[in-house]
Amino acid sequence: MAAGCAPRTMVGMFGTPEPWRVKSVEPIRLLSPEERERALRAAGYNMFALRADEVFVDLLTDSGTAAMSTSQWAGIQLGDESYAGSRSWERLERSVRDVTGFPYVIPVHQGRGAETVYTRAFVDEGDVVLGNLHFDTTRAHIRNRGATPIDLVSDEAYEPSAALPFKGNVDLAKAERAIERYGDRARLFVLTVTANTNGGQPVSLANARAVSDLCRRHRIRLLLDAARFAENCYLIREREDGQGERSVAEIARELFSLADGAAMSSKKDALVNIGGFLALRGDDDERACRPWAVLYEGFLTYGGMAGRDLEALAVGLREGLDHDYLAARVAQVRLLHSLLADAGIPIVHPPGGHSVVIDAAAFLPHLDREEYPAEALAAAVYLNGGVRGVGLGTLAFGERDPETGAVKHPPWELLRLAIPRRAYTDNHIAYVAGVVSDVWSKRDEVAGMRGVEIPAELAHFTAVLEPADR
Ligand code: F0G
Repeated sequence: MAAGCAPRTMVGMFGTPEPWRVKSVEPIRLLSPEERERALRAAGYNMFALRADEVFVDLLTDSGTAAMSTSQWAGIQLGDESYAGSRSWERLERSVRDVTGFPYVIPVHQGRGAETVYTRAFVDEGDVVLGNLHFDTTRAHIRNRGATPIDLVSDEAYEPSAALPFKGNVDLAKAERAIERYGDRARLFVLTVTANTNGGQPVSLANARAVSDLCRRHRIRLLLDAARFAENCYLIREREDGQGERSVAEIARELFSLADGAAMSSKKDALVNIGGFLALRGDDDERACRPWAVLYEGFLTYGGMAGRDLEALAVGLREGLDHDYLAARVAQVRLLHSLLADAGIPIVHPPGGHSVVIDAAAFLPHLDREEYPAEALAAAVYLNGGVRGVGLGTLAFGERDPETGAVKHPPWELLRLAIPRRAYTDNHIAYVAGVVSDVWSKRDEVAGMRGVEIPAELAHFTAVLEPADR
């Protein structure tokens, strides 16, 4: 048995038990159906506009919603709040270097802070930025620089029922064609591990090696979007031939060794409520990023974080690689996945690292794409049981033609149920499955949505909708 791995006897009915016990709790309350109806109407049928107190089980995001450990809370007390050169910064820098192997570390307040910095430094107007499946904030940052994000994930990644082990993988033939087509305009590749949009689907080590090789041959800078790198590496250990005997930390070191740097939203796999960093291999890259980091994020030894945040992150980054924690984490995601699959609900297969994603278009075939099926399903699930997910479909990813005004639909309409780390019990997960199954049994009654106010960029955060049957 590899060090740090649970013995098989520990694997119970619901998978590996959590290697922690609860020390403090935060009460949550289920509103009545009438209260939920009122709350949703007041929120303009937008999940982001609901008040947290109006939600019972909150699966809006796994970002910044983790429960911290006793060691992290102890770190909060130790936080050194000096403006420059704080002890907490030194601990964070050591932690990032140990985990990633990158020598240069720039702290930022969260993932999009890293995106601001690296797109200012590495992306120019007219560029294309290649990637497997860019996340929405990454996409918006690339556009903000007058460049174009290009997704090169394999076609199967868009097919919910294709149960392939690495649906975050780059289609290498597509990548070769893109490089040929765009030539010098393609100078940056962002490999997102795991691919968030289709449910946290991992990239294999073999694929990452091939992408690294391709980028090196064509002198393209390769950055990892490492928000969920630990879950990706855990799934590599489980699913990829020859990786089962290595520790997740070792796999992670190899993954990072393939890239020129990494942008990290620490609010995911580093188990903190705020924070992030940019880690780089080259001193020239670090020099290119530094001024932008100071301008947008703060001085280079705090980057928009308080000293206590640096401390919590220094600890959480290492904790997030613990094998038993990751086994329990992924088992909980898998529990929700199997309960929904067993009920016959159309979901994205196989289970990923952080969320279960429902195919809203297949769930609600009576709605067409203009009726926002992802948001309609999100509303129905909230109304039915106070469970909050987020729609990832036309509202989040649809692109409006500036001339004709016509909407270009993304490849899917999804409802993501993202599970916060160490926050909910399997009982909550069973409850969520019950709520979604109940909506499934009366799916014909779910009405579509109509836009009242749809902003041009990142629309899903602030859009106002109403039921189309009004
Ligand atoms: N990259 C990925 C893959 C992400 O999932 C996110 C955030 C970011 C970058 C941006 O990081 O939020 O710290 O600024 N994803 C969250 C989510 C918001 O709900 O999936 P951030």
